[in-house]
Amino acid sequence: MNKEQIVKKLEQYDQMQLLRFFDELTEEEQEGLFAEIDQIDFDMINIHNQTENKGTIAPIDAMTLSEIEAQKDEIRETGLRAIREGEAAAVLLAGGQGTRLGIDGPKGTLNVGQTRELYIFQCLVETLLKVKEEAGAWIPLLIMTSDKNDVATRAFFEEHDYFGYNKDYVFFFVQEMAPSTDYDGKVYLEEKNHISLSPNGNGGWFVSLKKAGLLKKIKEMGVEWLNVFAVDNVLQKMCDPLFLGATMQSGAPIGAKVVRKNAPDEKVGVMCLRDGHPSIVEYYDLTEDMMSEKNKDGELAYNFGVILNYLFHINALEETAGKNLPLHIVSKKIPHIDENGNYLKPEEPNGYKFETLVLDMIQMMDGCLVFEVDRSKEFAPIKNMHGVDSLDSAREMLIANGVEL
Ligand code: UTP
Repeated sequence: MNKEQIVKKLEQYDQMQLLRFFDELTEEEQEGLFAEIDQIDFDMINIHNQTENKGTIAPIDAMTLSEIEAQKDEIRETGLRAIREGEAAAVLLAGGQGTRLGIDGPKGTLNVGQTRELYIFQCLVETLLKVKEEAGAWIPLLIMTSDKNDVATRAFFEEHDYFGYNKDYVFFFVQEMAPSTDYDGKVYLEEKNHISLSPNGNGGWFVSLKKAGLLKKIKEMGVEWLNVFAVDNVLQKMCDPLFLGATMQSGAPIGAKVVRKNAPDEKVGVMCLRDGHPSIVEYYDLTEDMMSEKNKDGELAYNFGVILNYLFHINALEETAGKNLPLHIVSKKIPHIDENGNYLKPEEPNGYKFETLVLDMIQMMDGCLVFEVDRSKEFAPIKNMHGVDSLDSAREMLIANGVEL
């Protein structure tokens, strides 16, 4: 695009502020900025375009802890056999910026240890190593990073010798970015010649994995199931033979690990049926009546919160890969330069980021095994330093699970 076309595009979307420092830039910087602007789909970041997820919500059945316990030997064997035959891979979503935690560097590099070093990445890898030991086979570990943390993440793994994992089975790939805007929808500049970009949510993981050539690679390796999980749950069990075996035996194309809510109004996404499809309803979309509704056994009807640990069959992912996910517009802290060119790192949210989310993929699928896990053993997310879902609470839970910190 030449200057005339760029100006036309910016005027059309009322984004001329992006050329505020244009005259101060070298020719090379000007061209770089043009290339960035050329790539932006301004329709995608229209702050009035938020997609609403409607439909008729109904409760969904889960495979409960007692049902799992009754069949555990058989389903574990099914899961282990699949892992042994190389049919499962783990996908670590580590492209987020962890703004609530607010540390420098990737979230996975946070040290949760107190008397020794124990990094989040280390906790996760060590858990996967246990499955590898049990199954007797290496499990491919695919790690999604973003432009903001890719170099640091790879370097951290190198520096720590992959925490004992076989590096031939570790594959990194980088997710896409999306521009951030102020509350009026104006795209921020991060530097005079760079627009402010941030990771576009965790919903694009499969598309990014495919773009990186990894789908082909893992298919050649015989992988059929992908277990996607978040970086920040230090009690996370990935490629859990029980979960894999149960999902395989259920015949569903996907599985979702869930925990019982700790209160009817707990702020977690809840598994449900939406127009007959498995889906996740956000806590703020649950009405008071739904929150307190009971099922025939006298238990809460909407009682199972998701913990961002899903299994997907590759065929189901390929069938749905072309479909658009709803866009979420989230208020966040966005570092940027102001109209005088000063760099600002805000303490409070100051604009919007545009994200798609992995949880919206669930609704595209034909069925889902909702698989209950014990939250005291598998759910210790670190979103903040202190308080709820924090480093403090995760440390307590790790200690309660016998982990030496
Ligand atoms: P969160 O929604 O907690 O986001 O991510 P975050 O970026 O880590 O933290 P905040 O909201 O800024 O404080 C849930 C999981 O999805 C990954 C995160 O790394 C985490 O594992 N994620 C999130 C991505 O991989 N890419 C993204 O663009 C966003």
